[in-house]
Amino acid sequence: MGEIKNPEILIIDLSSQLAAVIERTIRETGHRSAIFGPKGAKKWLEKNKPKGIFLSGGQQSVYDEDALMPPDEILEMGIPIFGICYGMQWMAYKMGGRVVPNIGTKDISNKNYGETSVYFESSDRIFKDISHKEHKVWASHGDSVQSVPSGFREIGWTNKGRTIMAMHDSGRGYYAVQFHPEAPETAIGKEILRRFVEDVCGCEKDWSAENFIGQKRDEIAYVMKGKKAVLAYSGGVDSSVTLGIAHPVLGERLGTFCIDTGALREGELHEIVSNAREIGISNLRVLFRSREFFSAVGNSIDAEEKRKGFQSIYGPLLDHEGKAFGAKFVFQGTNKADRVESGKAGRSGHIKSHHNEVEIELIKYNPLQDLFKYEIRALAYKLGLSEEIAERMPFPGPGIFLRVNGILVTPDKVEIVRWADKMTMQMFKKHNIYKEISQCPVSLNGVPTVGVSGDGRVYKYSIVIHPVQTIDFMTSRGFQVPAHIRREVTRELTKHHEIVRVYWDEGDKPKASTEPE
Ligand code: XMP
Repeated sequence: MGEIKNPEILIIDLSSQLAAVIERTIRETGHRSAIFGPKGAKKWLEKNKPKGIFLSGGQQSVYDEDALMPPDEILEMGIPIFGICYGMQWMAYKMGGRVVPNIGTKDISNKNYGETSVYFESSDRIFKDISHKEHKVWASHGDSVQSVPSGFREIGWTNKGRTIMAMHDSGRGYYAVQFHPEAPETAIGKEILRRFVEDVCGCEKDWSAENFIGQKRDEIAYVMKGKKAVLAYSGGVDSSVTLGIAHPVLGERLGTFCIDTGALREGELHEIVSNAREIGISNLRVLFRSREFFSAVGNSIDAEEKRKGFQSIYGPLLDHEGKAFGAKFVFQGTNKADRVESGKAGRSGHIKSHHNEVEIELIKYNPLQDLFKYEIRALAYKLGLSEEIAERMPFPGPGIFLRVNGILVTPDKVEIVRWADKMTMQMFKKHNIYKEISQCPVSLNGVPTVGVSGDGRVYKYSIVIHPVQTIDFMTSRGFQVPAHIRREVTRELTKHHEIVRVYWDEGDKPKASTEPE
């Protein structure tokens, strides 16, 4: 097999939600990177010598007793370093500069947050044509660097109060900025990161969709030599790409099945079978397991308990199918956002237990675990899959079970959501807004409210519709459906005898997650 090179860039995550965004932005410039917290980074560095290191932002002050710090060794390795926000403060603090709280500075309140204007002066390779102009950048910090360490030059300031926003020691390849170049709001950010990676660290591009597919296929052939694997297929883009990568390598050694949990959408089973056929699987096994899943999720209205209940059936089912097929491995389409949210990647908190982060006996193999949805979509096109699969709206494994809220999940409640989802999507398609929306959970709010139907009183449920736009599902923007379409959807849905009202959720993430649970 072709040897798979380790990434040449290391990102040390000092507890920032944006650490994953640094990784993503660097990948968009054509480079892979490894991302670890301080302890993991120390271990990784024992066996690897990256060409460059990024220090992420963080929520602490360098003066906090329990402040997360990168391993000191990185300053003795002769490797270029790029510090971002807290990462810059750590560099200044560690190398003899001075870091102070923002209190009392002219241009900012205690916590500088949001869009900021920055002015640069440097003829350095990274900043040369960016210099002598003002740029809008995104910043969020409670401390700032007041004086830079010896060997460094101040090269960027806020335009009003002249807080130091950038410094470098070009000779050593040390750069640091107080703002977030990885944030999409910082227009010059991606180019700054690219120049550091390519011009300062000398990295060659090592990420492309084609490359990735080839590397993963080599890896599968090597890891699974002569052994069998199973794949639980959901019909979505993640598991389709996983299947499209694995199937040509394993052929008959790959067992595929899908699960009808009882919480699929209208017509979904048919779609799953037909999508599998498009990828060359004509004998997809369908497991009908709705009874088991309903009894596992139907005892609680608590979101995490329902997710755990789902896992309690899903995990053993995978193991059972794997054993029956004689498999040692199970493929999953888990992506980066799933891992970050379930607390399995990065240092951000546990947001929700994703169904496939389940303890099982089979060895999990997740080829897409470091990729975001938009990258997986690019792979789908590379694999020649249809637009229907490549652009398919995501749907969580536990499906409609997560979209019956505040009331116990029963088949009749799932049926209401299934109908409301079908009707809503039909109307979005009719009005040509379906493709503008990245995902749209349609859910049932179980708090009964009073309505009038004919001459009688009804005391029934509401439907909540949450259309969002997003690229990576880490953050999203609530999508505003035009008023006349909202009106039509509301009228249609309230024709159902159990639906009294329709609420439109326009929440962004943060704070509202895509799914209500
Ligand atoms: P949230 O709701 O956290 O969701 O903004 C982000 C994306 O992840 C999907 N999601 C899941 N997908 N299993 C999955 O396969 C799960 O348990 C799960 N929970 C959320 C969600 O639909 C959205 O696309």
